[in-house]
Amino acid sequence: MNKVEFVVEFFMIYWLMIGVFDSGYGGLTVFRELDKKFPKYDLIYFGDNSRAPYGSRSPETIYEYTCEAVDWLFRNGCQLVILACNTASAVALRKIQQEYLSENFSEKRVLGVLIPIAEEIAQTNGKETIGILATPATVESGAYIREIKKIDPDANIVQAAAPLLVPIIESGMIYHNSTKDIIRTYLEPLKKENIKNLVLGCTHYPFIKHLIQAEMPDAKIFDSPSIIPASLENYLSRHPEIENKLTTKRQRCYITTGDPKRFSEFAKKFIGLEIYAEKLSK
Ligand code: DGL
Repeated sequence: MNKVEFVVEFFMIYWLMIGVFDSGYGGLTVFRELDKKFPKYDLIYFGDNSRAPYGSRSPETIYEYTCEAVDWLFRNGCQLVILACNTASAVALRKIQQEYLSENFSEKRVLGVLIPIAEEIAQTNGKETIGILATPATVESGAYIREIKKIDPDANIVQAAAPLLVPIIESGMIYHNSTKDIIRTYLEPLKKENIKNLVLGCTHYPFIKHLIQAEMPDAKIFDSPSIIPASLENYLSRHPEIENKLTTKRQRCYITTGDPKRFSEFAKKFIGLEIYAEKLSK
């Protein structure tokens, strides 16, 4: 038994954790805020870095990859999994909840990040045109439009797909000279509409929030790290049957399908987290 298998087996026996899933590094922006808000719970992060980006893949592939990650997290000690990935939340969440969960783990839960963000912006927006910056798969799913219009049927929404941003962030090129130009190009259609409320519809984008804000200084930005912790707190207060099962030994664990050394270095450099990531072993 190698080290990851040992750690994971130990978790399975003693702990029921909150799992945080993302295609790569993006979910770390949410994880850092969950870590602060819920210091007592046991948290495990799963980054599918070796298969990121998800956002340019087909819905079938996004579902398959997300389902594999969720399955691993449940089989390795999670009670609740948060899809801290807008793309997975937009494309795979409903099917996972309706089919996979009921067939395999009916007592466990999977939550997404997209609906809480859509609700927040729909409730605070007023009459302004809403801007959504997201991956191609999230834009094509129409999930933000669907969820915002459930609350505000008259909302005017403009979406912009940004296929290069996740690969740029995954490769650590956040401060490369060309990154600003690429961001400017993607924001052009949103700037034309004079957007005042902008959704960062991808958990990777908070890594470049300062560059986006510099391009659109008057826009109020809505993103996953600023919304999801309060939304999870609200969920847990309404679901004591789940909350009561969560163990509170303050454990933190980071699993990646990519290079664990690179993962730890990225977390330290771009988000100030001192961690020791482990490589997934099936
Ligand atoms: N962080 C994911 C999201 O929120 C990125 C998806 C991708 O890998 O393209 O959409």
